[in-house]
Amino acid sequence: MIRDITVMGGHGRLGRPDLVRKIQFNMGDVISIVGPTGSGKTTLINDIELFANGNTPSGRQVLFNGVPAPIEYRDDPSRNPIALITQHTTFLSDMPVDAFLTTHAKVRGGNPEDITRLAQEAIDFANELTGEPLAAESRMTELSGGQTRALLIADAAIICSTPIVLLDEVENAGIHRTRAIELLRRYRKIFVFVTHDPRIALLSDARIVMKGGRIMDFIVTDEHERAFSIKVARLDDALASLRDQLRNGLRLCGTELEGVR
Ligand SMILES: Nc1ncnc2c1ncn2[C@@H]1O[C@H](COP(=O)(O)OP(=O)(O)OP(=O)(O)O)[C@@H](O)[C@H]1O
Ligand SMILES: [Mg+2]
Repeated sequence: MIRDITVMGGHGRLGRPDLVRKIQFNMGDVISIVGPTGSGKTTLINDIELFANGNTPSGRQVLFNGVPAPIEYRDDPSRNPIALITQHTTFLSDMPVDAFLTTHAKVRGGNPEDITRLAQEAIDFANELTGEPLAAESRMTELSGGQTRALLIADAAIICSTPIVLLDEVENAGIHRTRAIELLRRYRKIFVFVTHDPRIALLSDARIVMKGGRIMDFIVTDEHERAFSIKVARLDDALASLRDQLRNGLRLCGTELEGVR
């Protein structure tokens, strides 16, 4: 049973040390990673996924309940506590969605009478995140980028039910980002995700700031930022509605943002 994970600082691209030497995530925490392009966000996520133990380019160490990852995390895929959803995911299998989900549930040791229910729950979860719903019988290779990521997030949360979920750049996939975090918060897990989006960053409990491959800061979202996030959300909703109008082929009249405070 994982209670917490700890990242022990290593160094950045040029060998200079991470400024934050120790970061602990507890079960239920939602943490974002921010920083310019090329600053080492994916590298940090990969360190966690690889159970880094001083053996990755960053020299970082990741501890599970205070100790390095037990050997079975690596050796037994059904014991691996981490689901990583990368930016460039393509399916190699042409299975229908429901066959993929039920097969995966079986491999993860799901109870036979639960398997169909779990697969349906995962499809429903995915469909809350996409504009165009996916069907149980859709072929995996025919899903859009957004549908693929939505399915993988649902699979990680419901089928694998891993205690740790890592998401690299959720916003580019065209899925409903705030909804994803709301839904994921219902399952008590550690969520770590890369984001460039202020609304998403402010939904997290804290954020890790990267630069030059180094961990520069760890900022806990305070009351002041939480209050401000309501205004950010209103602005973001207004922009989202502009996007929808464009998608639907409408002409903008220029007064759409009036009254947004
Ligand atoms: N701590 C580190 N030690 C050595 N190399 C690093 C380190 N951090 C990042 N790098 C290298 O720097 C490059 C950019 O890092 P990375 O891909 O993690 O950045 P990113 O923040 O995810 O960028 P993007 O926003 O474009 O996805 C990679 O080639 C990576 O291997
Ligand atoms: Mg990256």
